[in-house]
Amino acid sequence: MVAPSILSANFGRLDDEIKAICDAGCDFVHVDVMDGHFVPNMTIGPVVVNAVAKVATKPLDIHLMVQNNTFFVDLFAPLKPEFISFHIEEEKHPHRLIQKIKGYGIKPAIVLNPHTPPSSIEYILEELDMVLLMSVNPGFGGQKFIPSVIEKARKLKSMIEEKGLKTLIEVDGGVNDKNAKELKSVGVDIVVAGNYVFSNPSYKDAISSLK
Ligand code: DX5
Ligand code: ZN
Repeated sequence: MVAPSILSANFGRLDDEIKAICDAGCDFVHVDVMDGHFVPNMTIGPVVVNAVAKVATKPLDIHLMVQNNTFFVDLFAPLKPEFISFHIEEEKHPHRLIQKIKGYGIKPAIVLNPHTPPSSIEYILEELDMVLLMSVNPGFGGQKFIPSVIEKARKLKSMIEEKGLKTLIEVDGGVNDKNAKELKSVGVDIVVAGNYVFSNPSYKDAISSLK
């Protein structure tokens, strides 16, 4: 599955951009929320994400890159996204936060930065619908893919299988038509792609070549 990251969209005509990726066959709309504290960048808040939710015909995949996860979960839950993912590096009580997300009827996901091992979520894996592996340092679109994520995805996939779970694996950052194939071969279910999709004159071609 493919989740285009709207970070690389033209925000001057966001309505059209969202409609275009949904019509082009994406599976989810990936929304990057940055607070200027957890990552050295800021993006969008509930006012803009609400506008996105209104025009999107595909479910939202909200990726929080923030310090105060609970505050942001409460803020975005009314928009009924499919997933809310938060970084394990920035959460003291992941189990509690997962229950909160589930309580809203939203699927919880945990994000791992490039240096964070899959073992960090071993005892919480069964609570998750998805694990998001960063293949760049979070904060910006258009960065170079960090190849060690391939091995990490392979490890995570065997942990999931050993436990008999159906947890999805998503990879985010520097994904293109070349590395998507390898990601799929090691068990990745969803790729996030910002620059690759939005820099292609045909979003449809970009999404189908990733698939
Ligand atoms: C990075 C974001 C990504 C990013 C992906 O912090 O989480 O979603 O926008 O963009 P590309 O595909 O351009 O690396
Ligand atoms: Zn993201």
